[in-house]
Amino acid sequence: MSRGSAYLVLGLLLATSLAGCSGSSLDGELEDVVVDQRLVPLSPVEAAAPELTELGEALFFDKILSGNRDTACATCHHPLEAGGDGLSVSIGTKGVGLGSDRVLGADRDLVARNAPDLFNRGADGWFTMFWDSRVAGTAEHGFSSPAGDALPDGLDSVLAVQALFPPTSPVEMLGLPGDVSANGQLNEIASETSVEAIWDLIVNRVLDIDEYRSMFSAAFPDIAVDEIGIEHIGNAIAAYEASAFLFADSPWDRYLAGEIDALNADAKRGAILFYGEAGCGGCHTGALLTDQLTHNVAPPQVGPGIDDDGSDDFGREGVSGNYSDRYGFRTPPLRNVELTGPWLHDGAYLDLESAIRHFLDPASALAAYDPSPLRDEVTEFYLVDEARIDQAITLMDPRLRVPKELTDEEIDQVEAFLVSLTDPAAKDLGHMVPDSVPSGLPVDGS
Ligand code: HEC
Ligand code: HEC
Repeated sequence: MSRGSAYLVLGLLLATSLAGCSGSSLDGELEDVVVDQRLVPLSPVEAAAPELTELGEALFFDKILSGNRDTACATCHHPLEAGGDGLSVSIGTKGVGLGSDRVLGADRDLVARNAPDLFNRGADGWFTMFWDSRVAGTAEHGFSSPAGDALPDGLDSVLAVQALFPPTSPVEMLGLPGDVSANGQLNEIASETSVEAIWDLIVNRVLDIDEYRSMFSAAFPDIAVDEIGIEHIGNAIAAYEASAFLFADSPWDRYLAGEIDALNADAKRGAILFYGEAGCGGCHTGALLTDQLTHNVAPPQVGPGIDDDGSDDFGREGVSGNYSDRYGFRTPPLRNVELTGPWLHDGAYLDLESAIRHFLDPASALAAYDPSPLRDEVTEFYLVDEARIDQAITLMDPRLRVPKELTDEEIDQVEAFLVSLTDPAAKDLGHMVPDSVPSGLPVDGS
């Protein structure tokens, strides 16, 4: 063999071995991203006492917390729908059916927003709840909420604070004055106008049930049962949500914990794009994949909206009163996002790829948005108004102004990364539904 051809063979050998090892240069590149972005797996949640989570579970699935005894937390955050309801926007009290089969009750309105999943909401670091962050704070520094000074003391977390509000919403759980439940009982709660009065009546209802009295004694051994307040209900529900919806054993979490092979090559390339060229990591930051801040991403507006004229949803502006917060919604976390559609605050996108494409060029996506795949009752409200579209784009987060030119293959890789955020155990949660609850009211999906 001549010297020249020996070099050629060596060169070929090197080239093939490098190609074979392309995984390792990919790993090197991703390792740099992980270090730069300070990405770490989700920290473990401290386990609560089983008596507390069992009580929380019962309350979460029990329709007794709703004025008309027909709606539980689980109605809209159902294990069979990955902790959401599979609808663009939720259907509350007097609705019939579960998940994407659910239909609106006669003369009732749709809930204005999409029911978020509850995955990992008990993890360390949460300080906001709701799409507009209207519940915020920590046990250490105090909470802000729509209840203002009426919010009781003794709430353990922002998740516990959140749990106090759905039962006070006429469209979600409270119902309307004069409503009667299916078994003919008058809704004694809906005629109340203050949150304190609503909470007191809910506590009374629950403590009228012997099984709950013994469950509260077991969960709160230092508190006399007659001293139980709505804050204990909130803390118990939050303890249940935190433990039951903890699903953070995804390939991405395993990768971050050092298992290099847990992620396939497409997901690795997708992660590099997500935190790099595609610019997603600027808002979907850290272990929770959210900065918990509100941003205007020029979202399409479907559903009934929440503002005075009843058709638009100004998001954070509705809480802060600042025009600059218009259309600002809190960055959602993304673990198990594959399972939690429809996506965005109003469920405007029914498939994950369309949601991803939105963020590559929101201005064009908003202008070209097609609501026709959604339910008629939702698209009826679709705001096509040119002026709104212009306003949303003008106020949009500056980071989204320059379109990201990704190829179809690269978009698939970003999607592969998002799919790698799924904990396999989160795919089938049917076992979470209890057979019965202390009130004896029916449990949907059991
Ligand atoms: C009728 C449907 C419905 C019912 C019933 C309901 N929710 Fe929700 N939930 C929603 C919707 C819609 C949102 C988002 C509302 C918003 O952001 O303005 C939400 C938001 C939440 C959030 C905030 C998640 C986040 O990341 O910000 C939590 C936690 C939650 N609900 C738990 C509960 C609990 C606990 C109950 C029972 C006490 C309950 N929900 C009852 C529909 C419902
Ligand atoms: C400027 C901050 C920001 C950037 C950059 C950003 N997002 Fe988001 N993301 C948000 C906000 C805010 C929402 C919720 C918007 C709404 O509901 O109207 C959201 C929602 C989502 C959702 C829907 C999640 C759900 O549960 O409904 C997905 C998926 C998503 N983003 C993926 C991405 C991807 C992929 C990128 C990069 C191509 C990206 N995001 C870039 C802020 C951002």
